[in-house]
This record gives sequence, structure tokens and C-alpha cells, in this order.
Amino acid sequence: MSKKLFEKVAIVTGASKGLGASIAQHLAEEGAFVVVNYNTDKEAAERVVQSIGKNAVAIQGNMTHPSDIDHLFAETKRIFGKVDILVNNAGVYEFAPIEKITEDHFYKHFDLNVLGLLLTCQCAVKYLPAGGSIINISSLASKSWAPYATVYSATKAAVDSITKSLAYELGARQIRVNAINPGMIPTEGATTAGIIESELRKKVEARTPLGRLGKPQDIGAAAVFLASNDSDWITGETLLISGGFR
Ligand SMILES: NC(=O)c1ccc[n+]([C@@H]2O[C@H](COP(=O)([O-])OP(=O)(O)OC[C@H]3O[C@@H](n4cnc5c(N)ncnc54)[C@H](OP(=O)(O)O)[C@@H]3O)[C@@H](O)[C@H]2O)c1
Repeated sequence: MSKKLFEKVAIVTGASKGLGASIAQHLAEEGAFVVVNYNTDKEAAERVVQSIGKNAVAIQGNMTHPSDIDHLFAETKRIFGKVDILVNNAGVYEFAPIEKITEDHFYKHFDLNVLGLLLTCQCAVKYLPAGGSIINISSLASKSWAPYATVYSATKAAVDSITKSLAYELGARQIRVNAINPGMIPTEGATTAGIIESELRKKVEARTPLGRLGKPQDIGAAAVFLASNDSDWITGETLLISGGFR
């Protein structure tokens, strides 16, 4: 059976670990050439590339820096000849009560999760052909609110909004723009943020109809669907993947 992403070229931002690594591996399994973008963890990115094989390369770039974003796309084109799929996965999340929110906390989240994502979309439209697909990794937190997540939730609500607006804007060019909104998934980031060992985790698990937290592969499989022609007539959607928790 032919692979769904045969000869497509995909960039996955923040793919050195966590959800991004799984997305990169799933896209490659379906035949895509994949660029594994990372910011600080070169070794982890190289491990992801090795797990994929010759159809992947790692490219460093801080997705809050416009010159790094330009370089990521230019290098991808130089190496693989084109860009068909962009997965905006790079993101940060830290939690704080209202008394502890600072300008730094605000800008750390908005600079990457919102402005960085927007600038990456802006660069992508210079490269993506008709049939191109942008997938923004949003969050359950954009619509299901928890204490201490004020700033993070706001960034992901912005991602949903950007997704829908850009889908209208780019539809005439046959470029689709969708979001995946994952529920809680153990990753390095989630562990560092203190979510995995928290009371919140227990509550989420108890109230999840399918009775478990997510796995990175739950998101990788959905990214393949939204990147491929199987979702040819789907744009502007926010796909909640949370075991039924909302
Ligand atoms: N895990 C969850 O429960 C969950 C739920 C909903 C949504 N999400 C969303 O899913 C995405 C990935 O989350 P995760 O849990 O997999 O996170 P993670 O384990 O912390 O991994 C984050 C990735 O983003 C990269 N990154 C961080 N800052 C970057 C920057 N400025 N430029 C480029 N790359 C950067 C990191 O690269 P380096 O390590 O190389 O620096 C790493 O590869 C995020 O957008 C997050 O909001 C996660």
C-alpha cells in the first residue's frame, strides 16, 4: 500500500523530544522527509533523526528569532528541495498563580507560543504549495481551564484563533490550517512543569472517559491525518485529543 506522505517534506518545530519527536517519527513512517527542529538539545534531536534514518535531518533554530525561522525554511529547501507540511509544535508551559505572574512569564509564553508560531506561519506561506498543510499544536487548555494556567491557556486560545483565521485567509491558495489540541501527555516538558505528579493529573485521569493520559503517538497519528490527503477538505479545525476529557 502506498504511503500517505510519500515524497512530502515536513518541518516539525521543537521535535527533539516529547510530542514533536513522535510527530516527526509518524510523518516519516508515512514516507515524508522530515526536518527535526530543535533549540537547545542537539543530542536529543540527533537521536530522533537516527530513529528515523536517512529521510531526516536536525536543524537548530530558536522559533522566537525571525532570522532562525528564515534559516530553517531556507535550509529545508536547500536540502530537500521544497516544504509541504509545517507542524508548529515548539511551545512552553509553566504554571503560576496570579500573584506570581510577571512580564517575563507573559513574554516567555507569548513570544514562542503565539508570536513565534505566527512568524513561522508567515515564513511558511512563502514556501508552501497548493495542497500544503499547517498543523498548529494547541492544547486542551485553550478551552478547558485550570487554575494557574492563565497565561498558557491564553496563548493556546490565541493559537486556535490564529488557526481559524488563517484557514480562511489561505483557503483560496489551497493551503489548509488546522490545530491539534492535546490533553495531558507525559513528556519532559509536562514533567518539568510539575503536571505529571500533581493532583491535577489524578483529577484529569479520574474524569477521562477512556481512563488514561495520552501518549505522544496519539498525537503523531493525528498529525499524519491532518498532513495527508485524507483530510483534504478539512481546514480551520481544532481537533481535541484527550481521551474524551473536556
Ligand atoms: N505534554 C502535554 O501534556 C501537552 C498538552 C497539550 C499541549 N501540549 C503542547 O505540545 C507542544 C509540545 O509539548 P511537549 O510536552 O512535547 O514539550 P517538551 O517535552 O517540553 O518539548 C518541547 C520541545 O520544544 C522545543 N523548544 C522549546 N523552546 C523552543 C524554541 N524557542 N524554539 C524551538 N524549539 C523550542 C524543545 O527543544 P530543545 O529541547 O531542543 O530546546 C523541545 O523539542 C507544546 O506546544 C505544548 O504546549 C503539550
